[in-house]
Amino acid sequence: MSIRKAFFALVYDGQMARAEEAGLRDLRRHLLADASGEVLEIGAGTGANLDLYGPGVVSLTVTEPEPAMVRRLDRHVRERAPRATVLRAPAEDLPFEDDSFDVVVSTLVLCGVGDQPRALREIGRVLRPGGRLLFLEHVRSTDPKVARLQDRCNWLNRLVVCCECNRPTLDSIRSAGFEVGSVEHGTLPKAPPFVRPLIHGTARRPRAAGAGTPDLRTAAGS
Ligand SMILES: C[S@@+](CC[C@H](N)C(=O)[O-])C[C@H]1O[C@@H](n2cnc3c(N)ncnc32)[C@H](O)[C@@H]1O
Repeated sequence: MSIRKAFFALVYDGQMARAEEAGLRDLRRHLLADASGEVLEIGAGTGANLDLYGPGVVSLTVTEPEPAMVRRLDRHVRERAPRATVLRAPAEDLPFEDDSFDVVVSTLVLCGVGDQPRALREIGRVLRPGGRLLFLEHVRSTDPKVARLQDRCNWLNRLVVCCECNRPTLDSIRSAGFEVGSVEHGTLPKAPPFVRPLIHGTARRPRAAGAGTPDLRTAAGS
């Protein structure tokens, strides 16, 4: 575990507090209102979403690879969602059988995974056919001027918040074979301009691979 990542875990909730108050928490609530059945949350961090899952959720499994985050997550699960299961795992290597979940949740995670195509492939693998990915991610801007700023500032973003601010994540979700249903473009509250562009919405694992439908287990650069 790097000292930087341990420090990030220590300050994460404090660092996000203003954004949560200024609207991020409402965006999370809106996204998770749609979660039901057997749910997996990847990169759960300190557990910011834990108390936003509704009664339609039959089981909740939360994964997180960083030990310092897992310690906080464990504590928050005990306090706020004692029936949830916590596992230490990266999104690129999920310790579940194929077709295990109805919903996978990713909030502010796909910006920081080491191998985004592989993580999306794993999400597709563990989702049942027709299962949904609920995502809320800060992304590369569609405005070329802002995208250039994001490219210039990416090193700083990586250093301070351990992720990339210039990833075209919606394109990656599509390339991985998901059918994007609803998607809204917004802004991450209280974030600097290069981290502001945000997408939130749902994407579905196709029920059956038809002509022209990429198979999620082989799409996205396998
Ligand atoms: C910005 S935080 C978001 C935490 C939480 N999802 C939230 O919405 O507050 C990014 C999280 O992704 C985790 N992460 C980093 N690399 C990852 C990977 N390869 N797979 C899954 N999660 C990862 C980090 O440890 C961190 O907890």
